Amino acid sequence: MSVKINYKNIANFLPKEELLGLKEKTYAARKVLVEKTGAGNDFLGWINWTVDYDKEEYARIKKAAEKIRKDSEVLVVIGIGGSYLGAKAVIEAMKNYFPTEKEVEIIFAGQTLSSTYAAQLLKYLENKEFSINVISKSGTTTEPAVAFRLFKELLEKKYGKADAAKRIYATTDKAKGALRVLATKEGYETFIVPDDIGGRYSWFTAVGLLPIAASGINIDDLMKGAEQARVDAINNEFEENSCLLYAASRNALYNKGLDVEILVSYEPKLSFISEWWKQLYGESEGKDNKGVFPASLVYSTDLHSMGQYVQEGKRIMFETVLNVERPEENIILKKEEVDLDQLNYLEGKDLDSVNKMAMQGTILAHVDGGVPNLVLAIEEINAYNIGYLLYFFMFSCGVCCYLTGVNPFNQPGVESYKKNMFALLEKPGYEAMTEELKKRL
Ligand code: PA5
Repeated sequence: MSVKINYKNIANFLPKEELLGLKEKTYAARKVLVEKTGAGNDFLGWINWTVDYDKEEYARIKKAAEKIRKDSEVLVVIGIGGSYLGAKAVIEAMKNYFPTEKEVEIIFAGQTLSSTYAAQLLKYLENKEFSINVISKSGTTTEPAVAFRLFKELLEKKYGKADAAKRIYATTDKAKGALRVLATKEGYETFIVPDDIGGRYSWFTAVGLLPIAASGINIDDLMKGAEQARVDAINNEFEENSCLLYAASRNALYNKGLDVEILVSYEPKLSFISEWWKQLYGESEGKDNKGVFPASLVYSTDLHSMGQYVQEGKRIMFETVLNVERPEENIILKKEEVDLDQLNYLEGKDLDSVNKMAMQGTILAHVDGGVPNLVLAIEEINAYNIGYLLYFFMFSCGVCCYLTGVNPFNQPGVESYKKNMFALLEKPGYEAMTEELKKRL
C-alpha cells in the first residue's frame, strides 16, 4: 500500500476496538459505492476509470502534450473547481520549488474573476509562445468562459485565427454545451469530460492529464498508482485497508461531535493537494446540513499563526497529517564557531529530521490539547504515489459520504450564488430577481 494510516493518536477519542467494530458498516458503504447502488450512482465512472479509460484519447493526450512542449513556453489552462484543482495539485506537488531547467510553464486562468490577475497575465503572455487548454464540462461556467474570450483574443491576435486554432485544446462534454459547439466550428482538438465523472473526480481524465503531461510529469505512473489504490481499496481487509480505515475514522470522529478536519502537511508543495481535497470532501459531503468541514494548514509555517487555535481554541476539530517519509532533498546541519543562536546541538542532524521532530512534537501536543490525530503517510513524492493518494481520497470520500448518508456526487448548493450573480449582472431572463436583490444590497 502506498498510503499507510496511523490511527494510534485517535485512541483517546475513538478506541481501536470501536474503530475496528465499524468494519461491517464500512464494508456496507463500500459495497454501495462499488456496486453503484447508492445516490448519485450515475456519476461513478471514475471507480474503474484506471481500467476503462479511452486508450485512443490517452495516446492523443500524450501527443498533444508533446506538441505543446515543443511549440509553447506557456500553457494557459482555463478552468475552475474540478476542472482545474486536480491538475494544479499534481503539478505543484511534483515540480521543484524553484525551476532547474527550462520547462513549459503551466499557468491557470479562469479560476478567478480578478481583473488584475487577467490583465497582468495578458501582459505576461504578450511576448511568450503559448497555447491554451480550456476545460469546462458544461461549457457555460462564467469564470472560465470569460477568461477564454480574453486569452483566445490574444492568441488569435498573435498567431492569426487559423494558427491559433491549432494551439487551442478544448476539454469538454462529448456532445453538448457551448464549448463543444465552438470547438467543432473552429476545429480545435478536443478531449472529453466523461458524462459519468463529476469535476472533482476527474483529475485522471483528460481534464487533468493534458496539463499534467504538458508539464512533463509521467502520466503512466500516475495512472498505475491510481489503479493500485483502486485494487487495494476494493480488495483489502478492513484492518489492512488504509482507505476504509480513514473513511471510518473521520466519520466516527464526526459522529462524536468533531465537525472540522484539518489536513496538514509539512511540505508546502502539497498545499494544492489540500485545496483539491477540500473541494472533494466539501462539495461531496457538505449538504443536507451535514458533513465535516474540510480545512487545511501547512506546518510548521502555520504553527506560528493558527497553531494557537488548534492547541487551545474551541474543541471542534481533528487533524489528519499527510506525511512524506523521505524528502526529495536533504541538508546536513553544521556547527558554527560561535554558538550564539545555540543551535550547535543540531550538528550532524539533517534538516528533514528537524521537520519530522516538529511533526511528532506537534502531534503529541495537539493530542494532549484534545485534537485527535490521524497520519496518512507516503514514502516519497513521485507520480505513482500521488496517483495513489488522489484515488485513495476519492474512494474514501465516496465511502464516507454513504456512511454520513449524503449523495457524494451532486452539488446543488453551488448554483445559488450563480443565480444571484446573473441577476445582479442583469443577464436576460433574470429580470424578476434583479430589483429584489438590489434592494437587499
Ligand atoms: O466539481 C464540480 O462539479 C465543480 O467544481 C465543477 O468542476 C466546476 O464548477 C466547473 O464546472 P465546468 O467544468 O462545467 O465548467
